[in-house]
Amino acid sequence: MTAPLKIAVAGLGTVGAGTLQLLQRQAERLTVHAGRAITVTAVSARDKARDRGIDLSGVQWADDAVGLASLPEVDVIVELIGGAEGTARRLVEAALAARKHVVTANKALMAEHGTMLAETAEAQGVTLAFEAAVAGGIPIIKTLREGLVGNRVSRVYGILNGTTNYILTTMRESGRDFAEVLAEAQRLGYAEADPSFDIDGVDASHKLAILASVAFGRPVDLAGVYCEGIRHVSRLDIEFAEELGYRIKLLGIARLTDHGLEQRVHPCMVEREAPIAAVEGVFNGVVAEGDFVGQLMLEGRGAGAFPTASAVVADLVDIAAGRRVPPFGVPTAALERLPGAAMERHRGAYYIRLMVVDQPGVIADIAAALRDQNVSLESMIQRGRAPGEAVPVVLTTHDTVEASMQKALAAIGRLKTVHEPPRMIRIEDF
Ligand SMILES: NC(=O)c1ccc[n+]([C@@H]2O[C@H](COP(=O)([O-])OP(=O)(O)OC[C@H]3O[C@@H](n4cnc5c(N)ncnc54)[C@H](OP(=O)(O)O)[C@@H]3O)[C@@H](O)[C@H]2O)c1
Repeated sequence: MTAPLKIAVAGLGTVGAGTLQLLQRQAERLTVHAGRAITVTAVSARDKARDRGIDLSGVQWADDAVGLASLPEVDVIVELIGGAEGTARRLVEAALAARKHVVTANKALMAEHGTMLAETAEAQGVTLAFEAAVAGGIPIIKTLREGLVGNRVSRVYGILNGTTNYILTTMRESGRDFAEVLAEAQRLGYAEADPSFDIDGVDASHKLAILASVAFGRPVDLAGVYCEGIRHVSRLDIEFAEELGYRIKLLGIARLTDHGLEQRVHPCMVEREAPIAAVEGVFNGVVAEGDFVGQLMLEGRGAGAFPTASAVVADLVDIAAGRRVPPFGVPTAALERLPGAAMERHRGAYYIRLMVVDQPGVIADIAAALRDQNVSLESMIQRGRAPGEAVPVVLTTHDTVEASMQKALAAIGRLKTVHEPPRMIRIEDF
């Protein structure tokens, strides 16, 4: 049998410890699949004394993670530290420079520097693999890059962040407000102490930028991702969504349009019957649409020690077995410089919620502001009657252009009879 594949693991936190456990527990079947054993030679983390519940006897410890890249016996560096800069980046660059394969779960690093790292890996003749960076245990990178290679993908979208999906699901099921549910998610460990990365859509944007590159064979363009989080989604919006037959989901969407590639992360109204609407709680789901395959969806756990380890190990087995595919499916020189479509040119339907003073003529003023921007209404709900007080009014529109919608909302927001800034959620057609 071929010599074992020798790996060094940097980062022994949630994913690192999970990966080592999986490698130990599944060693036999992995050896059969890979054609050789996968052996952990060295590890690194910050605190050597910490008990991680894993057996590290016979494994070399490195105080300096970057130093792992210069161990001559190591074939693969597994980077599970995190962060777009600092030690993680230095380690990955050093590993590629030393012609070692790299497996990483680091979406921030891949979203910020993915194209450059892929170029280096290609020049050095080594693999750069990142299945675990997008949607945890869901093998969406391999599916898009290899399973769907016979297709031109027209759209890929999904629920890419479990924390926000948990919050939105719990808000709907319990009828509670955002702040209360967020606090509970933090207590339960589903949300970080500083939750902004998740709830402001940053994490989902990182994943979408990577996904779009793989799906559309284009350099990673994080700056081209339009990003809005879920802080403004209220209990009231969730109730109205139900009434209109929708669910509110934070989606990442990459779609080919006449103006180029749209990449956007924002709360969406999706029809309750759409398969993606059924992805609830901490689960992730990704839908891809290809010209030959049609639509397909993968759903599963987007985070957690074992699901993420499952993705890391799949990349390791590919390397051990000698299976090599360019990181983004094609040589970096063949990545298309497809233009990005500006958000102002986005076309779609909209949900608008206003708090308006209940008095004659108010609705006529709102309708006029929409008409002035050529926005046509599809439906309107006015709830309750409280003469002289603010009541919610909900409007949905036919397809219109984002720039027109924004101008109409600004005009509506200036009306004296409209209290609170207008709330808008895009309606997505699946
Ligand atoms: N958690 C998930 O479910 C999940 C899912 C998908 C992808 N990811 C990605 O996987 C990566 C790791 O995430 P995680 O959740 O496992 O993080 P984590 O639990 O915070 O673990 C990070 C590990 O890195 C070590 N570390 C930090 N700075 C270091 C340094 N300068 N040198 C050496 N080691 C260092 C820490 O050491 P100590 O233990 O000694 O502090 C810890 O073991 C991130 O890129 C994350 O985005 C995570």
